[in-house]
Order: sequence, then structure tokens, then C-alpha cells
Amino acid sequence: MDSIRVQGGIALQGKVCIQGSKNASLPVLAAALLVGERSFIRNCPRIADVYAMVSLLKSLGCRVQWHKTGIAVDSSRVRKGEMPREAVTGMRSSLCMLGALIGRCGEAVMEHPGGCVIGARPIDLHLSALEQMGVNFTERDGKLWAAADSLHGAVIRLPFPSVGATENVILAGVMAEGKTVLEGAALEPEVQALCHFLGCCGACIEGVASSRLVIHGGRRLCGTDYAVPADRIVAGTYLLGCIGTGGNIFLERAPAWEMEAVLLAARQMGGHVCAMGEGIYVQAPQRPLPVRLVTAPYPGFPTDLQSVAMAAETRGSGTSYIEETIFENRFRVVEDLEKMGAEIEMLDSCRAAVHGVSTLRGARVTAGELRGGAALVTAGLMAEGESFVYGIPYIYRGYENICRDYRELGARVTSV
Ligand code: EPZ
Repeated sequence: MDSIRVQGGIALQGKVCIQGSKNASLPVLAAALLVGERSFIRNCPRIADVYAMVSLLKSLGCRVQWHKTGIAVDSSRVRKGEMPREAVTGMRSSLCMLGALIGRCGEAVMEHPGGCVIGARPIDLHLSALEQMGVNFTERDGKLWAAADSLHGAVIRLPFPSVGATENVILAGVMAEGKTVLEGAALEPEVQALCHFLGCCGACIEGVASSRLVIHGGRRLCGTDYAVPADRIVAGTYLLGCIGTGGNIFLERAPAWEMEAVLLAARQMGGHVCAMGEGIYVQAPQRPLPVRLVTAPYPGFPTDLQSVAMAAETRGSGTSYIEETIFENRFRVVEDLEKMGAEIEMLDSCRAAVHGVSTLRGARVTAGELRGGAALVTAGLMAEGESFVYGIPYIYRGYENICRDYRELGARVTSV
């Protein structure tokens, strides 16, 4: 199976249950390394990035076992830690293991995670924050060596609310001597989930969900049983997919309270969306209304849904303006959307004008990264005729089974 075949032009109907959050599962799995006991983490999605994190934990000496409802992680025996090359360079999110390993073992060795298609992905904010906590970094043989003779609290100010840097400070801070104050922390729900998990393990973190965290170190942590929240980006993908394709759907377990900016955008597009009990009801407009979208750190419109929103607006009833402020190269998907008949004008490197057209045509297109791939599947649903989306390993890094999910919503989508 190396592509996804999409039969377009079918309005979506039905309901789908939203998987567990990729971006909450990964830091929580890293935090399980700190605990030194057995934890059970429920609702982890069965996706490539989680599988990679599981192998990374195993390579560091943890005993990790999948069960029907979650993952058991026993970190009582952790060897001092070099992270295997393939675990790091292939997956940026292993970066949050840095703080966990330093917290647990006082040292870490990793390949430089490097950039990816959507941007250079520097790690300067991670390094400068951890250095203030007593970590010394050296680069040798192309690897990053981190060592902390005594990890201690500090007052740290992030110039940008980096999600990963916030998570690394939290993971190191709960093990550091004394108190760490983090100003300018990221507010993303995935950071809150990490704090909740560590709180369940006995850590004391004040200011959760605010930009000023106070992390009290040196407390004994114990294993816990924790359920990862539903994935707001997967929910937003299907929500915007419906807005673009038409129809009405119910997103079971969608965390509406974490998706205000996405619900607002969907309403501006002409959709009728409302949180109903344990999910979100979506009724699509005939054609999406044009919008102005600017991505921003949470609670702003998430960068991870920018490409999908763009795809939905390719059939808009006017011109939409989309500005990407988080990653410098998140418009790679434009080329493939244009193969399907989309009319997108790049105003500069981070702003695009999407001139809505009445019809898109099916085409053979290739995903270059995770969320761009989801956007191409969305465009395939909206197009007339058949589309083939290649590069599906990117998509399966974040979506458990996008074909199964869209089929449950009445679409004709199969891996071929
Ligand atoms: C997390 O990446 C997510 N990944 C991303 O989701 C998400 O797009 C991003 O946060 C923003 O919300 C995971 O949680 C695993 P950042 P992260 O540090 O932590 C710059 C997906 O599709 N920066 O908040 O890497 C960076 O270049 C993925 O699920 C520095 O300059 O994001 C970027 O421009 C994609 N120096 C911006 O900050 C640093 O040291 C945001 O990065 C770190 C970051």
C-alpha cells in the first residue's frame, strides 16, 4: 500500500470517534521515564510516532508493553542514555526525551534532531533553558552530549512559547533541586496534559494552563494510570474536511474546549458547529465562505490545521487570506493543491491568497509532511473524480487510520 485512493464529491455523513492525542502522548511517554516505576497510559494512538517513542523507551532500558486500552511503561531499570540515531533523526518529538533523560540520568546523548520539510526546527530555546538549569552541552562526532552534575531550578524566560522547550523544562524541572520558574511558557493543551500526568505522579507544578509555570523539583514520583486526551488536531482535520466537502457529521470525544479558534474559523466559513455532550456536531455550508486566517500559538488558530483549512477554502465562494506565523515552510502543499485545480497566490513566503474555485479535479499528488498530507486527502474528498495521495507514511505518523475514519463518515477512501 503506497497511496490513498479518494473518490471525491461525496458529502460527509455520520460520526467518528477521535483518537488519542499524538502531541500529548509523546511527552507523557517521555515523562514515564522519569518515574522509575510502572505507569499505564491509556488512549495512546497507534501511530508511527508513538511506536517510535515506544522503541526509544525500550532502547533506554524501559519495559514497555502495549495492551488493548493503553501502554504499560516500567522505567524502574533505565540505562544511562544514548538515544539511538534512528529514534531521533527520524522523529523530532524525541527531543522531549532530552529533558526526561537529563532529569532521570543526569545525562543524555542524541543526534541533532535536525529540521524537516516545514522548517529548520532549531533547538536553541531548549538548550539555553536547560543550560540555565545546570546542563552542559557539547557537540562531538555530530552528536549532542548533555550532562548535569547538579540539575537545579532557575528562573527562565522563553522569548517564544515553544511547546517542546516548555515540555523539556517541565521534565527536567520536576527532577531538579529547588524551584524552576518558567515565564513565557507554551499554553498548548498538550503541555497541560504533561503537567496533569506529572501531577498524578506526585509532582507539584503551579500555574498550569498559564504562561508562568512554577515547577517544584525534588519530589518523589510514583507510577500512575493516566488517560491521554483526544487529539484536537485530528478532530479539527475532520471538522474542516466536512466544511470543505459538505454534509454533516458528529465528532465523538472531540475536545471542543481546546478548539475555540477552530470552531470560530469553521463558523466564519459558514459552518454550523456546536459542542454537544461528548463531541462536536458539524453542518457544512454549501460552499465555504472566504476567511482571513492567521496561525498563532495556543489559543490561536493552530499551525497544524493551516494546510487543511487552506484545502477547504480552495472551493470557497471568494478569496481567503492565510498567514503562517509559526513555521517558515508550511506552504509546500500549495503545489499539489494546484495540481487539483486550486488557485493559490503566494503573496510572500508566509502569506497566501486562496481564490476559491467551483470545482477541484482529482489528481495524483504526494504528501511531503504530516499535515500537508491530511490536507491533500481533504482536497481529494472535495474534488470531482478520483485522487491518489502518495507519501502516506507521513500521514500515518499522526493519524491512526484516516481512511477508516473518513469511511465512517461516508467517504470512499482506501489505501491501495
Ligand atoms: C510542537 O512542535 C508540535 N509537535 C508541532 O506539531 C506543532 O506544530 C508545534 O508544537 C507548534 O504548535 C509536537 O508536539 C510533537 P515549537 P515543536 O517548539 O515543539 C521555533 C504536528 O504536525 N523554535 O513550539 O517543535 C520553531 O522553529 C507537529 O503534530 C525555535 O526557534 O514546536 C518554530 O518556528 C508539527 N527554537 C516555532 O518555534 C527552538 O528551540 C514553534 O516551535 C524551538 C522552536
